Amino acid sequence: MKVGVLASGSGTNLQALIDAAARGEMGRARVVVVGANVPGCGALERAAQAGIPTFLRSHKDFAQREDFDHALLDELRRHGVGLVALAGFMRILTPTFLDAFPHRVVNIHPALLPSFPGVHAQKQAFDGGVRFSGCTVHFVDAGADTGPIIAQAVVPVLDGDDAEALRLRILAEEHRLYPAVIRAIAEGRVSVDGRRVHVRGAPVDLADGRLKSL
Ligand code: GRF
Repeated sequence: MKVGVLASGSGTNLQALIDAAARGEMGRARVVVVGANVPGCGALERAAQAGIPTFLRSHKDFAQREDFDHALLDELRRHGVGLVALAGFMRILTPTFLDAFPHRVVNIHPALLPSFPGVHAQKQAFDGGVRFSGCTVHFVDAGADTGPIIAQAVVPVLDGDDAEALRLRILAEEHRLYPAVIRAIAEGRVSVDGRRVHVRGAPVDLADGRLKSL
């Protein structure tokens, strides 16, 4: 399955996908193109380093959100993408985009949704005083971090943490969870029933939400 990644930032999740594929841990899934809306962002550099084609489309160059989405779609289609993975992509996609990839756009969010959607989720969780946070991979709908949840990993908030320590602990779990979920989708092990998503053959330790295996 050809995966297109959209990103706006440093691209460590993109790197995790690239590295997992190189280790043979992504099954038939592989990143074939990386698109970004921020010139010079780390994700574009990481893709270039890995020899993956890239494109840059700045949302600022488009009067309407739909026009921006069409431009993204054109590029992704040109590369035969079957699954779109958002990895720190800081734009809301419109139905124009989502209807072209039904249940084929996923996102990773650094909190246990539906708690702490939106930006600075790790700081929101830290400031909120929760004892556990984590990350969520979900299908994307037209809302902000509101689509059906596919998988989550739980991360404890430890005494002595600050928001940055929590961010890094969550990020390490993101890098494990995202490749595993994309592999499961590529292998046809993920099905959607309204808000409930079923993932077959991905044992999760219910005590702490960690994925035991890929
Ligand atoms: C990650 O924390 C991800 O969960 C969120 O944006 C951040 C992207 O980080 N959606 P990176 O660019 O993958 O390093």
